Amino acid sequence: MQEIKPYYQKHLIVCLNVREDPAKDSCGTKNSTAIHQRLKDYVKEKGLGKKVRVSKSMCQDLCAHGPIVSIYPDNIVYSRVTLEDVDKIIKKHIDTLINS
Ligand code: FES
Repeated sequence: MQEIKPYYQKHLIVCLNVREDPAKDSCGTKNSTAIHQRLKDYVKEKGLGKKVRVSKSMCQDLCAHGPIVSIYPDNIVYSRVTLEDVDKIIKKHIDTLINS
């Protein structure tokens, strides 16, 4: 095993999971794909790809509160994220890295 430092300063992880039972809550049925894409598009548009990583995940075990976006190293988990919330997430967690 080897310990490495990631090249990025922020890691945003968006749950896209869809659970097998359609009666159970799933992030993937609540617009999380669009949320993930919007975050990725913004990072690319601003040329922040070497500072910010936006990833998809499977279940983060917070299904009833989804869509879930986890942010590290900030150690924050946002629940019930909407497309309208994405701008707030960007302003608070990504824009701070512009010109840094
Ligand atoms: S489906 Fe997203 S946390 Fe479980």
